[in-house]
Amino acid sequence: MQPMETISTVAGLRARVREWKQAGARVGVVPTMGALHAGHLSLVQAARARMDRGITTVFVNPIQFDNADDLATYPRTLAEDGRMLARSGVDVLYAPTAAEMYPPGFATRITVAGVSTGLCGGSRPGHFDGVATVVCKLFMQTLADCAFFGEKDFQQVQVIRRMVADLNLPIEIVSCPTMREADGLALSSRNRRLTAAQRQTAVALPRVLAACAQDIAAGTGVAAALSGAADHLAAAGFDSVDYVELRAETDLRPLATLLPGTPARLLAAAWLGDVRLIDGMPVPPRG
Ligand code: PAF
Repeated sequence: MQPMETISTVAGLRARVREWKQAGARVGVVPTMGALHAGHLSLVQAARARMDRGITTVFVNPIQFDNADDLATYPRTLAEDGRMLARSGVDVLYAPTAAEMYPPGFATRITVAGVSTGLCGGSRPGHFDGVATVVCKLFMQTLADCAFFGEKDFQQVQVIRRMVADLNLPIEIVSCPTMREADGLALSSRNRRLTAAQRQTAVALPRVLAACAQDIAAGTGVAAALSGAADHLAAAGFDSVDYVELRAETDLRPLATLLPGTPARLLAAAWLGDVRLIDGMPVPPRG
């Protein structure tokens, strides 16, 4: 295994990728904002299994934060991230500066309508414009053949799929299952900001969603099941609930009932103090 290289400029990255492509290699990218955990590493492994060369990007993207405190407190652990990625067999860690990504005069935003409205798009205005813009730039900079994303950020994956289809971007999107702690909490970089007491409460999120998914699959009315789930989260100690919704997996349209042949997913976001957690689960078809 060759040692991992860290690159921070578009020109340096392009030169390395050009060499790989001239040698016929297929290139995979795992875009991240760092503070890496086992969920990210599972994406790195998925990329390694399918591709000849792997890039992981670490960039805390300022334009996708709708809240200055959230941006300021987002965990930044680049040295540790680099050690984890080197051990995982990544070829290149691409860690551009904000000035490299957004030089003076930068004035472009990508807006993906439809799938980015409501859910996290409703509670975080402008968030998905920032995500789509940076992800498009990362695709153009890495010229990767395939990109790997976690299903925990389910709406994000649908926004990126829509953008790739609409803009004819020559890249395949692979989504990978959510990785969880032993007690069910979805792995997230934000989990490290939870206090011990909040961490205990956090496990209610996957538990309440799993129970709600089962209830809907067993025939409980969707509206009643969703408002019951929000109540259970509040009773468990969540400070507020942004949403608990049932959506069609492919286009994220709201579902008032399960429909035959339409895969459905329960999606939720809720706050513990100033930490916002999200999670989602497929709802099995009725019967
Ligand atoms: O999911 C994330 O970590 C970010 O939204 C992404 C895709 C790396 C864009 O900044």
